[in-house]
Amino acid sequence: MNHPSCTALPADVVAKPHEFRVLTGERPTGPLHIGHYFGSLQNRVRLQNHGVDLIMVIADYQVLTDRDIHGDLSNVVHGLVLDYLAVGLDPDNTTIFVHSAIASLNQLLLPFLSLVSNAELQRNPTVKEEIAASRRDAVSGLMYTYPAHQAADILSCGANLVPVGDDQLPHLELTRTIARRFNQRYARLFPPIEALLSSTPRLIGLDGRDKMSKSRGNTIDIRDSADDTARRIKAAVTDSQRHITFDPQNRPHVANLLRLAALCRNEDPHAVAVQVGNGGAAGLKKLTIEAVNEHFAPIRARRRAFAQDPALVKRILKDGSLRANSLADATLAQVKEAMGMRY
Ligand code: TRP
Repeated sequence: MNHPSCTALPADVVAKPHEFRVLTGERPTGPLHIGHYFGSLQNRVRLQNHGVDLIMVIADYQVLTDRDIHGDLSNVVHGLVLDYLAVGLDPDNTTIFVHSAIASLNQLLLPFLSLVSNAELQRNPTVKEEIAASRRDAVSGLMYTYPAHQAADILSCGANLVPVGDDQLPHLELTRTIARRFNQRYARLFPPIEALLSSTPRLIGLDGRDKMSKSRGNTIDIRDSADDTARRIKAAVTDSQRHITFDPQNRPHVANLLRLAALCRNEDPHAVAVQVGNGGAAGLKKLTIEAVNEHFAPIRARRRAFAQDPALVKRILKDGSLRANSLADATLAQVKEAMGMRY
């Protein structure tokens, strides 16, 4: 199938799902939006439903690279877990944990840092971009070292498959470097790690800027109401040509809405353009609003239902931490053993 939302899983994952352990996750910076949904969440649900061992880290220490945390992080994390549940991630099959809760994961950072040079940490292109975009006066030590901490997220649980966007590739490369050096220097503990790149075309911001992001207010959150969704899409940048065509090169903003509607309806964006025909921007927006609201209605309803149970998220994170802790404890014990730290 060629529909954009039917991204196929790699053949080896489909054939042997039980040979894969996936670690993925994000920084808890706010509500998840439709870019996250089509770019990564749908794929995670697909992996989960295929029987892959899926582990998700809510990377709370990583948030400190670009902002000070002042008290509201638990709300953000709570909302994030509800977003996960709403889209179909199921804690009976998927492990969800906050990495500050896993002491042995964090302890792995020290031996891992000893395996990489300062120069390697400093030339990471994603880190460089984040420093350039940073709203802080000084660059913290964490900014340079969090990619090694991310390696600890991945290696502590023995993951061998990591779904990533382009921006995460340097971190994955560093993870491989750390694993390879550890295996060579001490003992062969860590498996080879594959990247799983999303093939969904990236949605750009509704304001026409290259990226959807919460801070720019140019996206739609999964948890938004139908009315908020309509308001945001009505305000989206388009162009003034009446006849709607799917032409990403010359009409990127129109193409973006067509892609969004197509993803929601599991159709081809060209076919959606034909349906709008001479309806112009107004027709395109009307169709897109309906497509998004229809697709997300059951997801939003599920989210509201899960939110009724005030103890649910705590329970899920507790269970997730138990498993992540037991995996990371076992890894740390092997690492110490391999390094001769037997006392
Ligand atoms: N760096 C990722 C981001 O900013 C979040 C993350 C932390 C992550 N640890 C990870 C992603 C491990 C994949 C695997 O979104």
